[in-house]
Amino acid sequence: MSTPDRKLDARGPNADQIDYWNGDAGEKWARHQDRLDAMLAPFSRAVLSLAGVSAGERILDIGCGCGATTFDFAAAAGDTGRALGADISAPMIARARERAAALGSSAEFLLADAASHDFAPGSFDILASRFGIMFFEQPVDAFRHLRGALAPGGRTAFICWRAFKDNPWAALPLMAARPLLPDQEPPAPGTPGPFAFDEADRFRGVLGQAGFRSIEIEPFDAELTLGAGAEPVEAALHQSLEIGPLSRAMKEMPEVSREAIAELVREALAANLKDGAVRLPGAVWLVSAKA
Ligand SMILES: C[S@@+](CC[C@H](N)C(=O)[O-])C[C@H]1O[C@@H](n2cnc3c(N)ncnc32)[C@H](O)[C@@H]1O
Repeated sequence: MSTPDRKLDARGPNADQIDYWNGDAGEKWARHQDRLDAMLAPFSRAVLSLAGVSAGERILDIGCGCGATTFDFAAAAGDTGRALGADISAPMIARARERAAALGSSAEFLLADAASHDFAPGSFDILASRFGIMFFEQPVDAFRHLRGALAPGGRTAFICWRAFKDNPWAALPLMAARPLLPDQEPPAPGTPGPFAFDEADRFRGVLGQAGFRSIEIEPFDAELTLGAGAEPVEAALHQSLEIGPLSRAMKEMPEVSREAIAELVREALAANLKDGAVRLPGAVWLVSAKA
């Protein structure tokens, strides 16, 4: 079963994110997907376990990116189930489809804004996401809309980052580069972005207003391998400069010297080299709720 792409409405509330994920950021995620999947593997396992998919269930993977978790959901749901990944990023959806073909996965992919796409009412048993649900400009409306796609008794399995300061994989490279970056106001609480749901109570409120019930939000910690292999520190440095909060900050300040920043960040990462790899802690919420 395949669902045709709909042209995305780049004037809707999520226009900025549609721009962002169809530009440089989406291209980078598509290019580095294998490395990112290795880095995020502990969270794939966590979201799969949280979802507890049974054969025959129908899963919507929100903000599926290049599809790693959608493949896992498709395998768990089996021939009688369905896993659909929806994402606003054309380069990432294209990569997901290539990978599905190479893997022989039954996972399907749709280029769509999950906040407004016309999903058939009640057509999924599980709404799932690994880090794809923190980018809605109007989160209550988005989650209310998505709840309508759940069948009675349906459930969620979401993973999102806890506070920036509790996530050294993101904070350490940015803090190391701070002396060279102009002062930046921290984003207002709840601003769309990786840390939009850093406060469990705010996320609980959003889901509650969207009509979900039995909301459970539990912490989960795991290390992210930023760099391994022959040159682990250089690999971790490359990763930090390409993707994540430091790369976002640098994009907004192209006048700052990349070489000078690299020097500071390399030193901070090297201090975390252990057993041939640079690993840093990550802290997420595991979020389950009922329709
Ligand atoms: C941090 S990436 C995570 C990608 C993927 N889930 C993974 O773990 O590899 C966030 C993803 O959310 C997608 N996204 C953001 N807003 C979206 C929306 N309104 N509808 C669908 N996808 C969205 C982005 O395009 C991007 O692929």
